Amino acid sequence: MKMKARILEVSDLVSGYTDLDILHGISMHIESGEIVSIIGPNGSGKSTLMKTIFGLLRPRGGTIVFKDRDITGVKPDRVVRFGMSYVPQEKEFFPSLTVLENLEMGAFIRDDDISESLERVYAIFPALKEKGQIRAGSLSGGEQRMVGIGRALMLSPDLLLLDEPSAGLAPVMRDMVFEKIAEVNRAGTSILIVEQNARRSLGISDRGYVLEMGRNRFEGRGLELLENEDVLRLYLGGCGSSPGTVAK
Ligand SMILES: Nc1ncnc2c1ncn2[C@@H]1O[C@H](COP(=O)(O)OP(=O)(O)OP(=O)(O)O)[C@@H](O)[C@H]1O
Ligand SMILES: [Mg+2]
Repeated sequence: MKMKARILEVSDLVSGYTDLDILHGISMHIESGEIVSIIGPNGSGKSTLMKTIFGLLRPRGGTIVFKDRDITGVKPDRVVRFGMSYVPQEKEFFPSLTVLENLEMGAFIRDDDISESLERVYAIFPALKEKGQIRAGSLSGGEQRMVGIGRALMLSPDLLLLDEPSAGLAPVMRDMVFEKIAEVNRAGTSILIVEQNARRSLGISDRGYVLEMGRNRFEGRGLELLENEDVLRLYLGGCGSSPGTVAK
């Protein structure tokens, strides 16, 4: 059973870089237990939204409330302690460290016993246990993505932010990543995904938001958006893969 409490509420968020606004008043929310997708064309502000939620960028307007706490303008080192983890679009692990060392690094802010978290990560990603002593940089693309997500899970977050988790992977690996994300969610973590691969992402999502030029354009249930003619025409046209078949 999913608890219905709002874990994240973003209201009228204005954010950007130096003197340039990229987000012009974005609003969105996540109920506890949900997977929510943010989709939209290149440059529409998806990563900027994620970075602002996590505290890497300081918003110029609006509010971010996480678990009933106002975290607007709060820096990542504190946000992470409140129970939010972030896997960025860029390289999300240390290639020269072993898989196990990477997972341990993920828990660096903890001074308690991490063995339980490690077992939970291994339960979802058994391959990481087998390859614990292997340098992360020598793993396949799909396995490297698992290391990045596993690392973020070492803090047992309530909310996991994933920026383009399937980007650059072969189709079979992409499917595996989406299946694993759904599994992480079933184990109790709320998830926000930013994806180019909108069909697959909406296929495993409870709800989704479509951004356009830093503004909300559409929102709805994941499968509804997949059937919305305007969304299809504007954003899903050339996508090419079928809707997700992963059970939620
Ligand atoms: N560090 C930065 N400094 C200045 N402008 C930036 C920076 N990062 C991104 N931008 C600009 O902000 C806008 C939104 O970028 P953002 O990365 O949020 O888009 P996105 O929706 O994640 O795109 P993509 O699908 O390509 O990942 C773009 O015009 C981009 O050029
Ligand atoms: Mg991006």
